[in-house]
Amino acid sequence: MDKFVVNGGTKLSGKVNISGAKNGSLALIPATLLAPGTYNLTNTPNLRDVWTMSRLMTSMGAFIELNDNTLFIDSSNINDYSAPYEHVKKMRASFYVLGPLVARYGEASVSLPGGCAWGPRPIDLHLKVLKKLGAEITNEAGYIKAKSKRLHGCRFHFDISSVGATGNALMAAVLAKGSTILTNAATEPEITHLARMLVKMGSRINGIGTTTIEIEGVDELTPVDFDNIPDRIEAATFMMMAAITNSEIEVCKVNPYHITSIIAKLEQAGCEIDVLSDKITINATKGLEHVDLVTAVYPGIPTDIQPQWTAMMLNGDAPSKVTDNIYKDRFKHVPELVRMGAKIDVVDNSSIITPSKLMGTSVMATDLRAGAAMVTAALVAEGTTEIFKIYHIDRGYEKFEEKLTALGANIRREKTEII
Ligand code: UD1
Repeated sequence: MDKFVVNGGTKLSGKVNISGAKNGSLALIPATLLAPGTYNLTNTPNLRDVWTMSRLMTSMGAFIELNDNTLFIDSSNINDYSAPYEHVKKMRASFYVLGPLVARYGEASVSLPGGCAWGPRPIDLHLKVLKKLGAEITNEAGYIKAKSKRLHGCRFHFDISSVGATGNALMAAVLAKGSTILTNAATEPEITHLARMLVKMGSRINGIGTTTIEIEGVDELTPVDFDNIPDRIEAATFMMMAAITNSEIEVCKVNPYHITSIIAKLEQAGCEIDVLSDKITINATKGLEHVDLVTAVYPGIPTDIQPQWTAMMLNGDAPSKVTDNIYKDRFKHVPELVRMGAKIDVVDNSSIITPSKLMGTSVMATDLRAGAAMVTAALVAEGTTEIFKIYHIDRGYEKFEEKLTALGANIRREKTEII
């Protein structure tokens, strides 16, 4: 096991290059199940979650190799249509294989994901839309089994906007017979980008990037090479790290259009932000003003920045409030921040944050973004913070400590016996 050791109090400066989007890759990789053949997926981040998805694909018969952020996939010999518990329990996004498997191979057996670190994360919408597309779905001993000789088009309205369920529905509908109309579909950039890859493969999709997506099913698709988008959550995390340390940094290889709501919020908090086509300069040297934050579906504020924002506002000029409307139980980072001296009260699905002097201590990364919040807080804490369970952080941040060290942070990775 590894831990991070962070000595707080240093300002950040310089440039950081943003990696390919984790959640982008996790949607693009299963799409290769739809057309047997070879693919080069460029700008794939070298991350634990990508390894988990790759191992799952390999267990189904694919050949996969990651070289310099290009993921080569040969999906010619898929012969096992199951996603076992050992993979799905590590990463819920493994559920993405359900749609493409049933659409292309007529059957799928995918382990139910089980619990999540921050509360319930249902999969009912994934199943409802696949049923509507004609799949016969059963739940046998913890596995969802889906079968269909050929899916058929349908109209489906998502009661709640869901990234994963929209992705699964898209990957299933592109090979269904006839037309499908999805309404209240997710518009997150990772889903829009998945739709673009599906179009390059030969899918007929209208309304990409809107909440109403129309798909005219085709008989077969062809393999393609495809470039991933930059990771908007990683970019936002580095911006919030610059903000909490009252620093000025350049965030490069980013798509500013994907984080307009975050840029606007950071500007409200007093940060000066310059935006070029693929580069953002953030200057927070004048200090942070308190701003309330409410998470929402895209293009609103993503829930995946909520823990880091909470940590950041501990260095604000007055109390503020953070409300998570996407995951109402996502507050596991709060008790860890409190151990560092933070004054935060959780009321329903909100945190009331009082600016606090933080002290280094031992804390845990309870999940990926909670871990990023711990590192964010540790950057300004007095003394040394040890962050355990950083395998969560390794799921979603490529070369995290290398990038932070290059920006001037005092952070190192060490081995630890503590699990
Ligand atoms: C994706 C992201 C995750 C992010 C989340 C919200 C990936 C791999 N993960 O997760 O990082 O935090 O979007 O932006 O891309 N819901 C249901 N029924 C369902 C599915 C979802 O009620 O069948 C609800 C969830 O409880 C949640 C909301 O819909 O309240 C959004 O979840 P969803 O967009 O599905 O999240 P994921 O795709 O799992």
